[in-house]
This record gives sequence, structure tokens and C-alpha cells, in this order.
Amino acid sequence: MAHRSGLIASDIDAYLESHRRKSLLRFITCGSVDDGKSTLIGRLLYESKLVFEDQLAALAADSKKLGTRGEELDFALLVDGLAAEREQGITIDVAYRFFSTEQRKFIVADTPGHEQYTRNMVTGASTAELAVLLLDTRKGLLPQTRRHSHLVSLLGIRHVVLAVNKMDLVGYSQERFLQLLHEYRQFARRIALTDITAIPLSAVHGDNVIEPGDHMPWYRGPTLMGHLESVDVGQHTAARPFRMPIQWVNRPDPDFRGFAGRLSSGTLRPGDRVRALPSGQESRVAKIIGPDGELPLAVAGQCITATLADEIDLSRGDLLAAAEAPPPVADQFEATLVALHEEPILQGRSYAMKIGTRTVGATVNPLKFKLDVNTLEHLAAERLELNDIGVCELELDQPIAFEPYEQNRELGGFILIDRINQHTVAAGLLHFALRRSQNVHWQALDIDKTTRAALNGQRPCVIWLTGYSGAGKSTIANLVERRLHFLGRRTYLLDGDNVRHGLNRDLGFTDQDRVENIRRVAEVAKLMVDAGLIVLVSFISPFRAERAGARALLAEGEFVEVFVDTPLAEAERRDPKGLYGKARRGELKNFTGIDSPYEPPEQAEIRLDTTVLTAEQAAERIVEFLSERDMLKKP
Ligand code: ADX
Repeated sequence: MAHRSGLIASDIDAYLESHRRKSLLRFITCGSVDDGKSTLIGRLLYESKLVFEDQLAALAADSKKLGTRGEELDFALLVDGLAAEREQGITIDVAYRFFSTEQRKFIVADTPGHEQYTRNMVTGASTAELAVLLLDTRKGLLPQTRRHSHLVSLLGIRHVVLAVNKMDLVGYSQERFLQLLHEYRQFARRIALTDITAIPLSAVHGDNVIEPGDHMPWYRGPTLMGHLESVDVGQHTAARPFRMPIQWVNRPDPDFRGFAGRLSSGTLRPGDRVRALPSGQESRVAKIIGPDGELPLAVAGQCITATLADEIDLSRGDLLAAAEAPPPVADQFEATLVALHEEPILQGRSYAMKIGTRTVGATVNPLKFKLDVNTLEHLAAERLELNDIGVCELELDQPIAFEPYEQNRELGGFILIDRINQHTVAAGLLHFALRRSQNVHWQALDIDKTTRAALNGQRPCVIWLTGYSGAGKSTIANLVERRLHFLGRRTYLLDGDNVRHGLNRDLGFTDQDRVENIRRVAEVAKLMVDAGLIVLVSFISPFRAERAGARALLAEGEFVEVFVDTPLAEAERRDPKGLYGKARRGELKNFTGIDSPYEPPEQAEIRLDTTVLTAEQAAERIVEFLSERDMLKKP
């Protein structure tokens, strides 16, 4: 069983070669706290002799010290290497471990059972082909078992081993085993998990882990190791059409332009016709270069550099695909999101989306529902909290080539990143492109921003004032507009209170409503810039992410962020509309600065300290800024 082949001593080259040729199985283990997962993995590692002598000595010493298993070795100690998990007695991070036997190589991602650590499981599962789900015979199916199974199904793992552990504690009862298996199959069918192999185990005593043992003669199936060594999880990626996300363009001199990447599916030969996406241009493969020189053929999984017969539009983040079977290109999708961060995912917020080698902007709009993983019910939601799973529509700021996650994890799997603090806030899977995006085209118009701006004799821009309620934003914006108007400039002032009487009448003051409020007003401001106007926006706009989103809609230099910096205490002292008083008395909920956050700008173009400036002086500063940048001159 162990991979310590005699070849190591006699012919190391032959040994290494046989090792290289073995197939690799990636699997994850998931279970609830105390299911015996660590003990099970520890035993697999131990039996495959991939534990070093010094680790064994430490294991013997630890086992004795902690006395968890009397005189025997406690295999869990081998796996529970992290200090924190030892202290808490639970597994808290994804740990990848490599081991091998005569038949196969394995990478196991050990993921924690604790409900709040779903994100670790998502990380571990995204590359796995098989999942070992542990059940404690006495406890049966737990909410976590359902949750894990659901994630396993969602992440495209089609092979499940139901490891029914602690059989020793129920007298190795066949009846109990069959009852659990029946219950699990009924649930699994509803989430499209059909390839299930159930194995009754005792990880502590070793029954059916590596060897069958003597306690369960009624069981005739494979042992866990036997199954892992022989299960066919054929991905057949090589048989599918050729796809290669471009990692970088290698251009050492003007005569050579090579496109480097890893084949995500299919095969490639010199002479093959290929299409660059999203540009849609086609060419023929000239050469394929591998680490040791030119190759006649490349297959899925290999890293190569390809040169093409023609100069075409293809750069980092693009996709090279088989010309006769290219993937679709779209910019609106339905997708599943798994929230991975304490910071919630808000409907209407725009994120950086990393898919394959490409990064684009993506707005979650709308969030259709979140899933109750226990009942599979769809629940209405406007945000996703850590570990929530939801389905949403995504609008991208540019089209991408993609494949549904079910067909290709690489071209259909993505992550969402917060634009401001760079946290990974969600993992996602693309389902399909929305047809509405395919039927709506961009209409080319003859009169554009430049021509309209020229007629107006000005450079259009957005002056975005942010700050607490009562900071003086509207007063200052009003003065600026008057000044510009008398200078003969064409302007418009979008004011929070006013817009909330019309376009945004349906919105309140929850985080998600504010996100939507700013998203809409940013789009309106953009249209007005396109119309050739100088637009003043006066909104609390409390979140950095939405202000960054508004900036991203405009061209460089067109967005001037003005922080009307009035400290909260000062705004509250002024309280022009009596709203702070109401908020303090509890008559007004979600009031900015009281029970709703304000995130001050970090790099505003202009900061106005209203404790030292009058409103007139503040307005003058803005006008000066515009004139210094030549923004009031004819373009
Ligand atoms: S934002 O946060 O979504 O940008 P917006 O600027 O549109 O807010 O509206 C703020 C105005 O609404 C405030 O100036 C105030 O007059 C009024 N208002 C009413 N309720 C609230 C609240 N809970 N928080 C902040 N402003 C409120």
C-alpha cells in the first residue's frame, strides 16, 4: 500500500518516473467538529508512510502527553498542526496535504467543519474532483452536512464519498448504516449529487480505512483508500474545445510576439485556427513553445507560449479559443455568489471581478434571492452576509468570453474584490448570459460628448460634494452654480434631497438603498457630462466604494471629489433641519453619523474645512480649482 517502493533504493530514476506517471486525485474532506476527520486523514498519511521519522517521534510524545487515546497514537494530532485549532479542538483553516500510494498521488484539502468557515471550504473545493463527507454515525445528518453537500454540488464536485464514521460506537450496526445512507441519498438527489459511495468506518480502529478489518463482514464494498485509489473522476478536459486564458504577452524583440498561458481545455497544434476573444479576430498557430523547446502538440493543463501567423488584437486577460468552437461573449449574467468576508455584499455595489486572467468591473444588480441551505428555500435579500449563498444578476463594464461554471470551472468561476480595500468578498459561479444583454446593442450617434461640449464652450465634468448631513454641501454647491452661471457656464445641480423627491423616491436610508441612490445619481451625472454640462452633485454619499464607482464611470480628470469636511459634532450643533435631534431621540433610524456610517474620502481633489472657511470662501476654492485646471476654458 505504501509508496515506499523498493525502486527508491535500487533505481531512483525509475521510481521517480513511475511516480510522475501516476494520476493525481484532488479531494476535500468535510465534516462537522468531532466527526473524526483529522483522525481519518492522519491515518491515511500514516499508512501511506508519508510521515517523517521526527514527526512520528513528536506524535508519540504528543499522544502520551495529551493522553487522548490512552497508550495508542492519536492520529488527529498529526493533522491538527495549527496552534489555534489544537487549543480550540477544531480545525480552522484549509490545509493542503500531499500523499501517494503505489497507484495514485493525492492532494487533500482539509476544510473545517465549523459553520462559519464556509469560505475555507469554497477555497478547498474549487479545485477538487471528489469530496469525502464525514458523518458521525450517532449524530446522523446535521445542518452542516447539508450545507457542505450543497457547496460540494454547487462547486461542481460530482463524486461524493459518504464516510460514515464511528461505527464502533453503534456496535458496527448495518441497519444504522443503511438508514443513514437512505436518508442522505434522498437529500442528495434534490441537489443533483448522484455519484455517492458510502463506506462504514471506524477511523480510530482503522476499519475500512485502508484494510477492511474484522468488525463489518456485512460490508462488501471498497475501503476508503481502495476507493480513492481506483475511482474514475475523468475530467476529459482534453476532449473539449481548445481554450487558453492569456497570462502575459512575451515580446523580447520586435520580431517575436508570444502568448503565454495554460491550456484550460482542449489540445493545440501548429496550424490550428484560433480566435482571440473578446476582439473576435482570427489567426493560425505558428509555433507552440514549451519549457524544452518547440512542441508538436499541447494538451489541457500544459503551460505554453504560442505564436500566431498574424498580428491580432490579443493581450493579457483575453482568451484564445478554437476558431470553430469559440465560447460566448457577454456582459450580463446570472450567477451564484458565496459571501466570503465580514463586509456584506450589497445590491447595486460595484466590485472588481477577477475571472481567469481578466479583471473587469461588475455590479450586483439585482440580488435575486439567498438560499436557505437546510431547506433549499429561496429567501428575499438585499445583501449577503459572510457565508451566505445567493443568486444575483451581474452587470459587467465590459464583455468577457466565458463558459458556464458547470462546463468549465476556470472560465465560469470568479471572485469579487472590494475596490477600496482589496478584500475578496465573494466567490462566484456564472450560470448563463442574460438574453436581454444580447438583444440590446450600443447605438452609434453622430453628435457626441466632444461636439456638445464644444457648442457649450466648456469642458464638462462632475463636481461631487460629499460630507455629513448639515455639513453645508448644498449651500456651497448652490453658490458654485450661481458663480458658474454668471460666468456663462452651462450647469446642473443634483441635490440629494431633491432627487429623493423624484427619481429616487422609492429609496430609504438602509446601506443598500444608499448604494442604489448613489449608483443612480452617478449614472445620471454621467449622462449630463455626456450632454456637455458641468454637473454639481451634492449627496452625503457615505461609502467610499460608491464614490469610487461614480469616479470609474467618468474619464480621467472629469471627476472632482470635494470633501465638505464638517466634523460630526459641528454638523449636529448646526442641525439646520432638526434631523440630528430626531435621530438622537430615536425618532429617525439609520441616520448618518449616529447609527449609520460615514467613510471620509482619503484622496479627495478638494478638502473644505468649514470650521475655518465661510460658504462663500469654500465656493470660491472650487471655482479657483476649476479655473486653475483650465476646466472653465473652451476645450
Ligand atoms: S445618501 O446617504 O443616500 O447620499 P442623500 O444625500 O441622498 O443621502 O440624502 C440625505 C438627506 O436626506 C439629508 O440631507 C437629510 O436631509 C435627509 N435624511 C433623512 N433621513 C436621513 C438619514 N437617515 N440619514 C441621512 N440623511 C437623512
